[in-house]
Amino acid sequence: CGIVAIVGRKPVAPLIVDALKRLEYRGYDSAGVATVEGEELGRRRAEGKLVNLEKRLQAEPLDGTIGIGHTRWATHGVPNETNAHPHFSDGVAVVHNGIIENFAELRSELVADGYAFASQTDTEVVAHLVSREIARGADPVTAAHKTLKRLQGAFALAIMFRGNDNLIVGARNGPPLAVGHGEGEMFLGSDAIALAPFTNSVTYLEDGDWAVVRRDEIAIFDIEGNPVERKRQQSLSTSFMVDKGNHRHFMEKEIHEQPEVISHTLAHYLDFGAGVSKPLDLPFDFAKLDRLSISACGTAYLSGVIGKYWFERLARLPVDIDIASEFRYREMPIVKNSAAFFVSQSGETADTLASLRYCRKAGVPIGAVVNVRESTIARESDVILPTLAGPEIGVASTKAFTCQLSVLASLAVRAGVARGTISPEREKVLVRELSEAPRYANQVLKLDQQIEKLARELSSYKHVLYLGRDTNYPLAMEGALKLKEISYIHAEGYAAGELKHGPIALIDENMPVIVIAPHDRIFEKTVSNMQEVAARGGKVILITDKKGAEQASLQTMETIVLPDMPEIITPIVYALPIQMLAYYTAVFMGTDVDQPRNLAKSVTVE
Ligand code: G6P
Repeated sequence: CGIVAIVGRKPVAPLIVDALKRLEYRGYDSAGVATVEGEELGRRRAEGKLVNLEKRLQAEPLDGTIGIGHTRWATHGVPNETNAHPHFSDGVAVVHNGIIENFAELRSELVADGYAFASQTDTEVVAHLVSREIARGADPVTAAHKTLKRLQGAFALAIMFRGNDNLIVGARNGPPLAVGHGEGEMFLGSDAIALAPFTNSVTYLEDGDWAVVRRDEIAIFDIEGNPVERKRQQSLSTSFMVDKGNHRHFMEKEIHEQPEVISHTLAHYLDFGAGVSKPLDLPFDFAKLDRLSISACGTAYLSGVIGKYWFERLARLPVDIDIASEFRYREMPIVKNSAAFFVSQSGETADTLASLRYCRKAGVPIGAVVNVRESTIARESDVILPTLAGPEIGVASTKAFTCQLSVLASLAVRAGVARGTISPEREKVLVRELSEAPRYANQVLKLDQQIEKLARELSSYKHVLYLGRDTNYPLAMEGALKLKEISYIHAEGYAAGELKHGPIALIDENMPVIVIAPHDRIFEKTVSNMQEVAARGGKVILITDKKGAEQASLQTMETIVLPDMPEIITPIVYALPIQMLAYYTAVFMGTDVDQPRNLAKSVTVE
């Protein structure tokens, strides 16, 4: 969810809605805004995306100069208008991001005390707790503080009060919240990008902090109520809103940006001219590591799986790769001489952040492979290893993924050099090969017509299986993930060798099998797996290179032929046809490609 709050000087509702648009990547199930209207609170809410709220506000405007707004990704309660934020309780308005874990207990207590609940959300307990404190005689700030002390879980909050047009209380315990400093006006927002149209001067609240925000002053306290000093920084975010250019969707634009952003990212880590990987200021020495652990979620996790293959093969460095929501609870013993990498486009994913904190506590040096350099994960790491993808708007990650791969491949080369498994001559070759990735990516984009035609056919199927070996196995999982998240077609990604241990039972003419198989040293093995599919009436879509197409000797439903290219860049370049296939299929299905149902770009709850 995303939060924006303004203590301003002119009507704030339109400003809040504009800022919320920049936070829509955090969820778009519903949206709402509340303002102080004279002695009363005013509120407009709407199910679905922000345009619906905008229409509501056009029909029934709000005039208040102080307000709070929210765009929601549903956790407790269906995404209808009643469950949309802000939530009210007798003159108190609350917007909330995260989960109040002890809400059931608090709710029973409040119900026993005569409070009626209008929604199914966990947020409403916060509004009632604050208003109960006020009813018991507390002033608004004390009421908010007393309430915060009772909440367990991970949350960011903004609280506003009837009849008070110069006070908003913000609080952070988990999901991010930043204070924006203006001239005679103040702001709160889930990130600096939301605040960029208003101010570049921001203060990030730390966990346990809460802030009393007034037009001319901001005071920040810890949970005990002691004043704390937090640094004011210049945010690098610009108020420039990214647009789609000539593309139909952000996803299409982001797919096409890949040759350029991959090249920027590689150039950050590799010196193409000298043919070397650039030295990095790391909090550990690759040569002395016994183990590297990588954790992440979603597409970022799959980039980490490919990273494992690279680090182990090129640098002989053992890698543990984990889904962050598992890592944080699996009580992994910390290996001496280890380091941990966390991969995240947004740098705000709750499970990834929690995994990072687990490692921090254990004293493990931390590297953050992030796209948003001002994010919490970036700030809490020892070294930021940036992806230079630029803002990614489409919920389904594309260019961030190939940039994550570019970083991990470059780091694996660096690690190999440091550990003596890559000679200077080999380093030169690998750096040159990596430098060719953008050119090949560009050539693959030209296959769009063939892929679009195939996508039309694919859109009539209900199930699709993706297979691959080696680094093409995680890529098969990424292909399946892309397809299911934007086209809603059921898809699975499997290691090709696992086909015979289960999924082969599903094979018939209604289940196309997409095989990702550049001609590599285990190509013949994958061909055997394709034969197993064909022998059972299955339809194969083969994504391969020229050599592979010549040698496959198999009747396929379609063969997509990429240029022959060096092995190290195949995961980066082969990501493109699978992204394009998912994209065009979704377009044929008529889904909301950039904002698919039920998903959010940045998931700041567990
Ligand atoms: C969400 C997004 C995915 C993304 C994942 C991890 O599920 O929809 O596209 O891969 O979160 O996000 P992160 O920002 O940590 O890379």
